[in-house]
Amino acid sequence: MAKSCNVALIGQKFMGRAHSNAWGQVARFFDLPVQPVLHTIAARDLEDLQPFADRFGWRRATGNWKEIARDPEIDLVDIGTPNDLHAQQSLAMLEAGKHVACEKPLAGSLKDARVMRDAAKKAKGKTFVWFNYRRCPAVALAHQLVKAGKIGNVLHVRARYLQSWGGPAAPRVWRFEKKRAGSGAHGDLNAHIVDMARFLTGDEVAEVNGAISKTFIKERPMPDGRGKGKSDVDDAVLFLATFKKGAIASFEATRLAHGHQNRNTIELNGDKGSLSFDFEDMNVLNYIDATEDPKVCGWRRIMCTSAGNHPYAEAWWPDAHVIGYEHGFTNMAADILRAIGRKKPEVPLPDFADAYETQRVLEAALLSAKQRSAIKLSQVK
Ligand SMILES: NC(=O)c1ccc[n+]([C@@H]2O[C@H](COP(=O)([O-])OP(=O)(O)OC[C@H]3O[C@@H](n4cnc5c(N)ncnc54)[C@H](O)[C@@H]3O)[C@@H](O)[C@H]2O)c1
Repeated sequence: MAKSCNVALIGQKFMGRAHSNAWGQVARFFDLPVQPVLHTIAARDLEDLQPFADRFGWRRATGNWKEIARDPEIDLVDIGTPNDLHAQQSLAMLEAGKHVACEKPLAGSLKDARVMRDAAKKAKGKTFVWFNYRRCPAVALAHQLVKAGKIGNVLHVRARYLQSWGGPAAPRVWRFEKKRAGSGAHGDLNAHIVDMARFLTGDEVAEVNGAISKTFIKERPMPDGRGKGKSDVDDAVLFLATFKKGAIASFEATRLAHGHQNRNTIELNGDKGSLSFDFEDMNVLNYIDATEDPKVCGWRRIMCTSAGNHPYAEAWWPDAHVIGYEHGFTNMAADILRAIGRKKPEVPLPDFADAYETQRVLEAALLSAKQRSAIKLSQVK
């Protein structure tokens, strides 16, 4: 019988639901070297915590996350809390010898991210960061195609992550507080597309330039309905970058793009072809092979649902029966359990050291915006 892995999760709201669902579903769909057990859930909202635990099948619920570090039964700790807590919670769990799967961005600040990277280097446990979009089958396939040389040398990356929920009526939750979130759309959305660009190109950013960061909405209604509170994070951040092997890239993140609810898109143009992904049509990867006869050369729309041909497709439904948002998390849970069970994940998993590289790019963009100049990544450590 496969060994078990006792999982604890901190956080029970948005990511708490997505991750609980993933840990609950993963063994039903994937053959795994270790079986997850939904052991303990911790969060602050005590009134909802026990009903949440019952609904998702967590055996135990606690209002004190520190108990998890002290519990020798727990093997893997999943962190789905606001960004300012990632470092403190990860460090406590790594010191206790646990594996840690932390939400993105790795931290709200480069300093916290560095401490986390350094702690992970010395730790016994493995680390993972929930850059879940890597695990959309179409994005994983794009990674494999670039690696196989299908678009040749990557010349140009164009990444946008556009959302629309951050208008003036959006309540002043932690995401709009700099001291809790670190940044706004930047750490929230650019983090994902910087990770995807690094993952897909297999290359690292050498320089960031031309960044613009803007806070349009300076106060917002408080969630409890009592007046207004300060909103001091960016609402939109744009920047340009050059990769080490010479590719150029543009990144754009906003929470103020009407009609774009979760438009996470990336395009790669190589010297032999191009690839294009849009999360709002997440089962599809668009590909053009520019070496084909011009008479028939054009974009092809690949439905990434073919078992045996497309990443993760075998675990799910018969061909062309599409998957959705939650499956990216379940695919990631499967790969985390494979890594813990010493099996290969379907595509590379980001650990703290990897996510630290994304955090350096985010920091370089903030510096570029502040100084109105180009920032070499070698200046950001
Ligand atoms: N991977 C993704 O696509 C994705 C999407 C959304 C959010 N996130 C990330 O997930 C993290 C959480 O975001 P969210 O949207 O779920 O936030 P949320 O506000 O919906 O939930 C935060 C949770 O943290 C808990 N919490 C807060 N302070 C705590 C404390 N001191 N001790 C224990 N629990 C505490 C709260 O009780 C709540 O359950 C953030 O880092 C965010 O950037 C990632």
